[in-house]
Amino acid sequence: MSNSIEPAAAIDPSLLLKAAEIAREAGARLREFYSQGVETEYKGDVDLVTVADRTVEKLIRARLGEAFPTHGVYGEEGTRERLEGEFRWYVDPLDGTTNFAHGFPQFCTSLGLEHRPAGLKPGEDGELTAGIIYDALRDELFTASRGGGAFLNGKPIHVSKTSRIAESLLATGFPSRKRHSSPNIHFYHEFTLRSHGVRRAGSAALDLAYVACGRMEAFWEFNLNPWDTAAGILLVEEAGGRVTDFAGALVRLKSDEVLASNGLIHTELVGFFSDMFAGRNLAPIPTPAEFARLRAEQKK
Ligand code: IPD
Ligand code: CA
Ligand code: CA
Repeated sequence: MSNSIEPAAAIDPSLLLKAAEIAREAGARLREFYSQGVETEYKGDVDLVTVADRTVEKLIRARLGEAFPTHGVYGEEGTRERLEGEFRWYVDPLDGTTNFAHGFPQFCTSLGLEHRPAGLKPGEDGELTAGIIYDALRDELFTASRGGGAFLNGKPIHVSKTSRIAESLLATGFPSRKRHSSPNIHFYHEFTLRSHGVRRAGSAALDLAYVACGRMEAFWEFNLNPWDTAAGILLVEEAGGRVTDFAGALVRLKSDEVLASNGLIHTELVGFFSDMFAGRNLAPIPTPAEFARLRAEQKK
């Protein structure tokens, strides 16, 4: 996110409380849909959407409009309102739709607030000032405000103190569109061999929240959207971590790359990304055909 603009004044704590109340109401609706079961539609390829995504976005849009009538709302399911405003909410009503649709209990609601002072161009980033991620099934509410720290159910959270990738638990995700043009499985393979493991749990916002509270050391993904990352980036930063692109440069809201970590392993991670993009120091594994041949030879 851009640091070139004047930092926003600390946000009013009542704003965070109100937004948390909205996220909780959204989560309660998601819980109802989840227990009833919902039909799934395709937005494209394997990009799923359900009545829960749409209904809960409508609910959040209405509640944000009532609570903050001058704030803009930019939602995954199409809401584009008051985008000329000084503040803008990035809303993912249901992050982890594929999990939700299959009854796999890992999803959340994510609300991230950006301060956009007058004079910013449409594509330019403002400053993230508040973030709320609510996991309704576990009743875990993650909140952060710029300069005010990060919290889980009201208790301060911090990134982990692990200082080596070799001792880290990592996370990533894969796109549901243009899957054949994503190289991420190569990164998954390399990082799996270099760490305690890589989780692919299916909710980018929760992955970021888990880095913030020290359950994992790092998360990376290609081609996420602002509604996936706005709240989580602020959570990680306020919990003492670092968020950049894969080269260690400033991350933008509409970034093609997000790399979030506890900060301590960030330089090592960026070094690995640089090696992998250059095809250096790779850790090859056998192809299935090579493996089958070797296994057959061992049985002789
Ligand atoms: C998806 C999830 C997933 C990530 C995908 C996202 P959605 O969001 O965050 O973990 O890998 O890239 O699109 O579609 O469930 O809101
Ligand atoms: Ca999402
Ligand atoms: Ca979503």
